[in-house]
Amino acid sequence: MFSNKDITHFANIETPFYYYDLTLLQNTLNACAQAAKVYNFHVHYAMKANFNPMVLEKIKSTGFGADCVSGGEVKKAIEIGFDRNKVVFAGVGKSDKEINDALDQDIFCFNVESIQELGVINELAAKRAKKARVAIRINPNVDAHTHHNITTGLDENKFGINSWDLSDCAETLKQCAQLEFIGIHFHIGSQITNLDVYKNLCVRVNEFAAWFEERGFLVKVLNVGGGLGIDYHNPDQQIPDFEAYFKIFNDFLEVRSNQEVHFELGRALVGQSSSLISKVLYVKNGKKKNFIILDAGMTELMRPALYQAYHKIENLTRQGVTDTSVKYDVVGPICESTDCFGKEVELPETSRGDLIALRSTGAYGEVMASHYNLRENVNVAYSE
Ligand code: LLP
Repeated sequence: MFSNKDITHFANIETPFYYYDLTLLQNTLNACAQAAKVYNFHVHYAMKANFNPMVLEKIKSTGFGADCVSGGEVKKAIEIGFDRNKVVFAGVGKSDKEINDALDQDIFCFNVESIQELGVINELAAKRAKKARVAIRINPNVDAHTHHNITTGLDENKFGINSWDLSDCAETLKQCAQLEFIGIHFHIGSQITNLDVYKNLCVRVNEFAAWFEERGFLVKVLNVGGGLGIDYHNPDQQIPDFEAYFKIFNDFLEVRSNQEVHFELGRALVGQSSSLISKVLYVKNGKKKNFIILDAGMTELMRPALYQAYHKIENLTRQGVTDTSVKYDVVGPICESTDCFGKEVELPETSRGDLIALRSTGAYGEVMASHYNLRENVNVAYSE
């Protein structure tokens, strides 16, 4: 819900733009930090969700580490000032250059996703006379019950090392003198709203930790990844229930006193703190359909086209108007039929020039924008 003051302010900014509510962001970060502190859990922010510099600054200042999936993210995390001892680096396809750069930065840990990758990191570390800390990303075959495009922890997914390869993995680890095994890593998917999924994950984590320890490996770090979902249908109910989330891990993980539990949250930390604000270019009333054509499209917000994702759509200019409502397909200007933000969306009768908000766009919004159709960079505005 935006105040009249916000809406007046928006009228002076060139659309489309991502609007960041930095107060809400800080409140969300504080809620997460407090809830994690109760159990002494460590949180790394999954930078891929949003690497807007103002957002990163707040996350760093809250004391979280950084979860990176590319050399670019590792570089950015260090530049912004994240503690290098809290930088982790995952990804199924780390290039030699990315590994070398991360070795030079002495990051906390590589989350390794294949046996071959273990050999490569070992070799590259040897050339630099360094030891690389590694955690093994295991594919636990746990169904995240989320959209299939953002499921990562099933046997058919490309991520992590499968359980049937773990014996080979353990052998390789023993042979790699430049690697220091520190623990195990998991990430089963994103936008997980059924917390029971995490109970199943905990059961698997306990089994895998025991498996490694039985073979003489000291498992210091249990990294359970991220994935906590947000409520896209109720963007004003803004702060996710971090307490309930962390409690599950406290209740179901078997954690010894010398072990640390790590998390990699992205969406839950940033998702609700931003909306994409757009202007209505045209209204087309047809026989079968009414269309609202916005000046934002899939080039600014890719999620609906890519994952059929829902983002609540609000007409800010008509906020509070309840007497008329029309069903519209809300679309962008891009030459693709999938450039559609919502079908049959009920909105107050809408006119050219009205401001439209696409809510809950803080995660995987601005970062996934593209220049397709030679579109310009999307603008950005902040609440403070
Ligand atoms: N850790 C790893 C290894 C990951 O791959 C991801 C996300 C995360 C943590 C953070 O997950 P989160 O807490 O944000 O769910 N573009 C998609 C989401 C892709 C997620 C990729 N990995 C979307 O817009 O829904």
